[in-house]
Amino acid sequence: MLCHALKSLVAALALGCIASATTPAPVSSNRLISRQLTEYLMPFATATHEFARVPHTNFLLLTQMSNSELVKIELDPATDEPIAYHSFPMGKNNKSMLHGVWPSTKYPGLMWLSLQGDNKLLLVDPGQNLSSAPSIKHTIDIPKPGNGPHCVFEIGDRVWAGLKEASEQTGGYYVFAADINNLNLTPGSNTTGTNHTLYPSLNSPVFIAEDPTTGLIYVTQDTDSSIMRINTATGETTQLPIPPSIGTNAVGMISIASGPLRGIWFTLAGNGTGGTGAFGHIGGNGTMRFFSLQDESLGLNAGLLHLADASPAGNASSRASVADESPALWLLSTSLLSTDSPDALIRVTFDDAGSAIAGEEYISMQTQNAMVHRVLTLGDSVFVSELNTFTLAQLKYRNTVPGRWLPAEIAGGENVYAVAG
Ligand SMILES: *[C@@H]1O[C@H](CO)[C@@H](O)[C@H](O)[C@H]1NC(C)=O
Ligand SMILES: *[C@@H]1O[C@H](CO)[C@@H](O)[C@H](O)[C@H]1NC(C)=O
Ligand SMILES: *[C@@H]1O[C@H](CO)[C@@H](O)[C@H](O)[C@H]1NC(C)=O
Ligand SMILES: *[C@@H]1O[C@H](CO)[C@@H](O)[C@H](O)[C@H]1NC(C)=O
Ligand SMILES: *[C@@H]1O[C@H](CO)[C@@H](O)[C@H](O)[C@H]1NC(C)=O
Ligand SMILES: *[C@@H]1O[C@H](CO)[C@@H](O)[C@H](O)[C@H]1NC(C)=O
Ligand SMILES: *[C@@H]1O[C@H](CO)[C@@H](O)[C@H](O)[C@H]1NC(C)=O
Repeated sequence: MLCHALKSLVAALALGCIASATTPAPVSSNRLISRQLTEYLMPFATATHEFARVPHTNFLLLTQMSNSELVKIELDPATDEPIAYHSFPMGKNNKSMLHGVWPSTKYPGLMWLSLQGDNKLLLVDPGQNLSSAPSIKHTIDIPKPGNGPHCVFEIGDRVWAGLKEASEQTGGYYVFAADINNLNLTPGSNTTGTNHTLYPSLNSPVFIAEDPTTGLIYVTQDTDSSIMRINTATGETTQLPIPPSIGTNAVGMISIASGPLRGIWFTLAGNGTGGTGAFGHIGGNGTMRFFSLQDESLGLNAGLLHLADASPAGNASSRASVADESPALWLLSTSLLSTDSPDALIRVTFDDAGSAIAGEEYISMQTQNAMVHRVLTLGDSVFVSELNTFTLAQLKYRNTVPGRWLPAEIAGGENVYAVAG
C-alpha cells in the first residue's frame, strides 16, 4: 500500500520498496503464546514430594521425605503465587519419611499426612497462620503385617494408603483402608483404624482412586506394573496387568467425575531405559484403553509419572488455556527413572467424545534432571513439585486470547511502514 501511494519510482527505490512490491508479503505474523514458568526454592532436601492445598485457605502443604519436614507455603490470594513458607518437622525423627498429604472432606479443615518410616497416618490441623505448627488430632497406626504408608487418600467414609514397603512379617504388600466415621479428635488419640482392611497387593501400591460410575476402587502398582481393582462390598480384588508392549510402571492415577473424560486415568512411568509416552483410561465397563504421545523428541520417550484434569469446565480443572475448550489432561514426564525421559509438562487435548488425542502441547521444564514429581492445578495456574531440586514450579499462561497481544498495526503491516516512510 505504501508503495502504491508513492508517486516517484526514485523515491520508491530510495525507500527499498521494490523488494516488497515484487515478492510475496513476508511470512505472516503469528499470535505469540507465552508461558510464565517460575521456580520457587524450598528448603534444601533430596526428596520433595507431594503437595495439596488446604481447602478454603491460602496455604499449600508440601512434603519433604528425606528429612521428614512439612513445608507450609502461603499463596498470594490474588495471584496464587507462593510468597512465604515455614517448615515443620513431622514424626519421631528425620527418618520418619513424611510423604502423603491429602485434604479431609469428612473433617473439614484437617489434612491427612502419612509417615512411611513410622508406619502411621496422621490427621492434622495445619494451623491458622504460616508460623503456627500443625497439631495432630488423630493418629492411625498401620496394623501388622502392613508396612510403609506412601500416598494417602480420603474416599467417602474411608481413608486409604498404599503400603509401599514389603511386610516384615509376610514379605508381601498391602493396600490399607479404614473407616473414619466418629474418629476421636483429642490430641494424642490413636487407633489402628476402626474397621480397617489390608488388601494384599502386588509390589507396590501407589495411587488409589474411585471410579465414579461403579464405585470400584483402582490402585496402581508400580514395580509389578499392574492395576488392582477392589470391590469394597465383597472384598474381591482383581489384577489388570499392563501389557509390556505398551509400557511399564503404573504410577499416577486420578478419577474424573464428569464430562467426556469421566472415569479413571493412569500414567506409565517407564523404566531405566526410558518411558513410552503411554497412559490409559478405565471407564465404567472396566476395560483399559491406552493412548500414546506422538511427538518424536519429547513424547515417545516420556516417562509419565503423574497427571491432572486440565479440562476447561468444572472446578477441579485448570482454566489456564482460555483459548482451548477441549477436554484435556496435564501429563507430567519425569527424569526420575531414566535421564532419557524429559522433565516436561504436557497438555493433551482430546476430541469432544474424549476418545482420541486431538493435540499435544509440550512445556519443557526449566531445570532438566529435576525428577519432577507431582502436578496439581489451582485456579488458573499449574504447580509441579521437583523431587531432586527442592523446587515448586508454577506455570501461568499469558497472551492466549487470539488478537489481544499482537498490536493490530504489526499484524496489518501498513501503519508501521507509513510511519517509517
Ligand atoms: C537427621 O538428624 C541427625 C541427628 O540430628 C543428623 O545428624 C542428620 O544430618 C539429619 N539428617 C537429615 C537428612 O536431616
Ligand atoms: C498465629 O497463630 C497462633 C496460634 O496458632 C497465634 O498464637 C499467633 O499469634 C498467630 N500469629 C499471627 C501473626 O497471627
Ligand atoms: C497409642 O495408644 C496406646 C493406648 O491406646 C498407647 O499404649 C500407645 O503408646 C499409643 N501410641 C502412640 C505412638 O502414641
Ligand atoms: C465394617 O465395614 C463393613 C464394610 O465397610 C461393614 O459392612 C460393617 O458393618 C462394618 N463393621 C463395623 C463394626 O463397623
Ligand atoms: C523397559 O520397558 C520397556 C517398555 O515396556 C520394555 O520393553 C523393556 O523390556 C523394559 N526394560 C527392562 C529392563 O525392564
Ligand atoms: C468400554 O467403554 C469404552 C468407553 O469408555 C469403549 O471404548 C469400549 O469399547 C468399551 N468396551 C467394551 C468391552 O464394552
Ligand atoms: C465451584 O466452586 C465454587 C467455590 O468453591 C462453588 O461455589 C461452586 O458451586 C463450584 N461449582 C461447581 C460446578 O462445582
